[in-house]
Amino acid sequence: MSPAARDRLELVHSDEPHAESFARDVEAGLTASPKRLSCHWFYDETGSQLFEAICELPEYYLTRCERSILEKHAPEIAARFDAPVTLVELGSGSASKTRLLIEAFLERQGGLVFAPIDISQSMLRESAHLLLDEYPELRVQAFAGRYESGLEHFARRTVAPHLTLWLGSSVGNLDRPQAARFLHGVRQRMDPTDRLLIGIDLRKDAEVLERAYDDAAGVTARFDLNLLVRANRELGADFDLEAFRHRAVWEELPGRVESHLVSQRRQRVRLDALDLEVDFAEGETIHTENSYKYSEGEIEWLAENAGMRREAEWLDANGLYSLSLFSPR
Ligand code: AVJ
Repeated sequence: MSPAARDRLELVHSDEPHAESFARDVEAGLTASPKRLSCHWFYDETGSQLFEAICELPEYYLTRCERSILEKHAPEIAARFDAPVTLVELGSGSASKTRLLIEAFLERQGGLVFAPIDISQSMLRESAHLLLDEYPELRVQAFAGRYESGLEHFARRTVAPHLTLWLGSSVGNLDRPQAARFLHGVRQRMDPTDRLLIGIDLRKDAEVLERAYDDAAGVTARFDLNLLVRANRELGADFDLEAFRHRAVWEELPGRVESHLVSQRRQRVRLDALDLEVDFAEGETIHTENSYKYSEGEIEWLAENAGMRREAEWLDANGLYSLSLFSPR
């Protein structure tokens, strides 16, 4: 990064201790019935790379749809604000789609403060460096820590209006009441002029959904199985990776794609670090992820229960994916 670019970066990290631990979570999940592991743990270095690869898969339409919406509508979204906006982002990751909004705001307001919040400090630093080198009129104020802490931090230290981005259908990992509760927390920290731009995947045919979460090349399967690789490496477990298969099923009633790792035979797995032995029946599964999908009515419900109102919505050309603008009520 050039010296001039460095002057435009501020990186703060929260001093809260990490409350969660992989070991404790695996112990709780594998001794529960039915067995589960949290999707929270997918994103180590390998998992993050596999997720980037998923986003390029022909079957995984979500990323492409969201990008196409932003390509078409970013200037119109930027034009909805009268005063200069502070652009906040939850879980920015590599921020590749965010560029489209950054460019639209730079075009419109000359300069921009981009305020990404992410749990991974290295990810924040890397993407901030790339952005600052590319955009001389950009300032980055990054926060490494929990979303709630970051929002609190920026509400006090940056000027309204804020546009907060939560892209990628990340909301889909929460069940509906959890999602409403989390967004209600976001709402509590919003100024009347602040807005939330949220990407949400829509309900659609089972085959399309199940293919998106179980691709032909087997990348999503490796992503899911990486949880077991991680347990083997970090917890001294002896999971036989050939003895578990990835499965994705669309459950219409709750409206979610469930990801599972299915035991191919009766087996016992040992986890040295936990001094634990876990028995699996043939066909028994570990539930690893939920990806909730929304109808238009369910998006309205979400906004309503978060204390917000849906002010605008944009869809991709095929109507598979929704980008919604929420304002506080
Ligand atoms: C990052 C949670 C939005 O649920 O679509 C992709 C993760 N899992 N393929 C999703 C994921 C399997 C993804 N989210």
